[in-house]
Amino acid sequence: MRHFLTLRDFTKEEILEIIDLGLSIKRNLKQKIYNNELKNQTLAMIFEKSSTRTRVSFETGMYQLGGHALFLSNRDIHLGRGEPVKDTARVISSMCDMVMIRTFEHSKIEEFASYSKVPVINGLTDSFHPVQLLADYMTLVEHGMHNNIIAAYVGDGNNMTHSWMMLAAKLGFELRIATPRGYEVNESILQEALLIAKESGAVIKTMNDPKEAVKGASVVTTDTWTSMGQEDEKEERIRIFNGFMVDDAMMSLAQDGAKFLHCLPAYRGLEVSEEVFEKHAQIVFDEAENRLHAQKGLMVWLDKQRNQ
Ligand code: CP
Ligand code: NVA
Repeated sequence: MRHFLTLRDFTKEEILEIIDLGLSIKRNLKQKIYNNELKNQTLAMIFEKSSTRTRVSFETGMYQLGGHALFLSNRDIHLGRGEPVKDTARVISSMCDMVMIRTFEHSKIEEFASYSKVPVINGLTDSFHPVQLLADYMTLVEHGMHNNIIAAYVGDGNNMTHSWMMLAAKLGFELRIATPRGYEVNESILQEALLIAKESGAVIKTMNDPKEAVKGASVVTTDTWTSMGQEDEKEERIRIFNGFMVDDAMMSLAQDGAKFLHCLPAYRGLEVSEEVFEKHAQIVFDEAENRLHAQKGLMVWLDKQRNQ
């Protein structure tokens, strides 16, 4: 049985296999072919933070696969009132077939997984957002942008950045990360990614100059400057991140035809200008839709592993 907590635990071949599976399920869905791969199964979805895409995609995906999803916010379950993670894990995994969790500390999902009898999927922690990267890469494949990727991430060194680092390290492409000083990526995750990169041939560079990162890039991406849980720092961050907005001037440094990705929600006038966002809206909303298809691929893949 496998969990999906970070891309670190998956080989390049496995990541590509999950995405291929998602793409074939997507093709079927567009022809209204439903195979009910997860018939009679239930997915428990524990949300300790807000969500639009993650909730809608997992719940819809599970239904389309013939199963059922339970939305469990921490306002509703005892986990939010202090019932231990390990007890919650043992109870929920004795009744449900898979669990998706969105929470704060990454260690919490690791603890949950270590007590769970069923696969656990990371739906975002403070440290990683790996399901988003499945959708992002799927989108690059569909847009014919997956060969010779030179990706530039501009903004906060956060859960999205860490997941981009893991994807680049595993798949072997170039990733430049530009953050303001003091908002760099986690050093130990960086070291880990660099070690994996040595094997795959990936190039991962960190810097503080966004222009240097974007120059000649084929894919430019960013994320909110203020992640969930950091709301109190918002004003200070807006001041410090001045100069890190992905706008037309920044995009003009990238390759001709470079793509812009954003995991959403996007804050126009902060990490991305209205013009850049709307110019690239097609691919950004394909990316959002692909959360559904990539995660269906993931759930079917995890189920197959369990049955092998
Ligand atoms: N990108 C993403 O995970 O969106 P939600 O926070 O809406 O789930
Ligand atoms: N970095 C953001 C991602 C939202 C999908 C956050 O954690 O809030």
